[in-house]
Amino acid sequence: MNGTVELIIDGKPITLPTVVGTEGEVGIDIATLRSKTGAITLDPAYGNTGACKSAITFIDGEKGVLQYRGYDIAELAQKSTFIETAYLLIYGELPTSAQLNEFSGLLTANEMLHEGMRHHFEGFPPTAHPMAILSSMINAASSYHPNLIHAREEHFPFHAARLISQVRTIAAFSYRKAQGLPSIYPKTTLKYTANFLHMMFSHPGEDCEPKPEVVKALDLIFLLHADHEQNCSTSTVRMVASSRANLFASASAGVCALWGPLHGGANQAVLEMLEEIHKEGDDGTKFLTAVKNKTGNRKLMGFGHRVYKNFDPRAVIIKEQCDKVLAQLHVSDPLLDIAKKLEEIALHDEYFVSRRLYPNVDFYSGIIMRAIGIPMDMFTVLFAIGRMPGWIANFKEVMDDPESRISRPRQIYTGATLRTYKPLAERD
Ligand code: SDX
Repeated sequence: MNGTVELIIDGKPITLPTVVGTEGEVGIDIATLRSKTGAITLDPAYGNTGACKSAITFIDGEKGVLQYRGYDIAELAQKSTFIETAYLLIYGELPTSAQLNEFSGLLTANEMLHEGMRHHFEGFPPTAHPMAILSSMINAASSYHPNLIHAREEHFPFHAARLISQVRTIAAFSYRKAQGLPSIYPKTTLKYTANFLHMMFSHPGEDCEPKPEVVKALDLIFLLHADHEQNCSTSTVRMVASSRANLFASASAGVCALWGPLHGGANQAVLEMLEEIHKEGDDGTKFLTAVKNKTGNRKLMGFGHRVYKNFDPRAVIIKEQCDKVLAQLHVSDPLLDIAKKLEEIALHDEYFVSRRLYPNVDFYSGIIMRAIGIPMDMFTVLFAIGRMPGWIANFKEVMDDPESRISRPRQIYTGATLRTYKPLAERD
């Protein structure tokens, strides 16, 4: 497209500018559409609508490409760590040693929750879902940092580090509470992911020494989840940030959006699906028949994606990691065998092939988390821990954009037209 497009409305041509991204994506800029024509566009789930320009993550769904700030996900998975990648996403460049040390130091300095926060945990019933606790406690945490509400730019590094560090502490504390166990405080001597496992699985009398392969597998899972362009929860974070709400409020809203089984909740839904198939002694074929017949609106959880119409590159990496970790831990999981069988059938079945449905990031991640002892209702919480740097990077991009305005979509009204009020007597 050569910089403009022409639209004909009621026989009248109007010219609209186009925007071309650094990877050649073309957007039609409709900012003047309503003022020029009185018409708006309608795209309910935003499948064809760009909400923003962003320099953080690039996805090519047709080719199965995912890049964080220009670095391919497979290379980062092989050579980087979650915290180094978090810095890259938020600040745009891979850190120098000094920058990485400073960032790690901020994470360590902010890993403890205010002691007053511990009482908030007591208010939740033992059956509370950890995602409900997480979204509430992130907002509660903001109350202990008054300069967060009217944050100045120079405060951002502290708030960002505090959120990345404390989301992990809140998650571990919520798990310990659900298990009826005492909270385990973070250790300043441990790196991010090892510290999380320490807070999850140590005991007052005995420190958990997580195996290096377990730490590496979980760090990789966090890294692979760290950002993903304008997905549902990240778009939620940007929407809340656009009203100039604070970082913690925006992230708390992101947690709520991520919880849905069509989004981040899918990793838990995949394991529930595999367990149900296993319990019924089905090898997956019966279940897939029900999915294809849309019996009870069944879906093959962990399959399909709004953007990837080819393999989700993260699923490829996680599947390889799955085999490796289970072999290292000498774990054989019948659910993994069922997952592989489902994938093998689906990849050759017309229903899935014609709809371009492939495994996504959630299809295998739960199996690794289960193998390292993470309970199922914590799976989406770990997704949130991984996604936190991406949400923070998108929050920062909104705040740093001088042209950023409050998000306020339009609608097409389909309700009753004007009518006059009828007194109750006339309505009976
Ligand atoms: C994540 O956006 C992101 O980037 C998200 C994410 C991230 O990192 O942030 O990648 C993380 O959320 C991954 C997706 C996790 N969700 C699931 O695994 C849930 C199962 N997947 C589906 O619900 C679905 O594929 C979605 C929600 C992921 C995508 O839905 P779309 O794009 O709205 O697709 P659709 O519902 O319009 O489906 C088109 C067709 C329909 O059939 P027909 O009406 O044409 O007959 O495909 C069918 C759907 O019924 N279909 C499925 C299916 N996914 C789509 N059929 C069976 N099983 C599935 N999983």
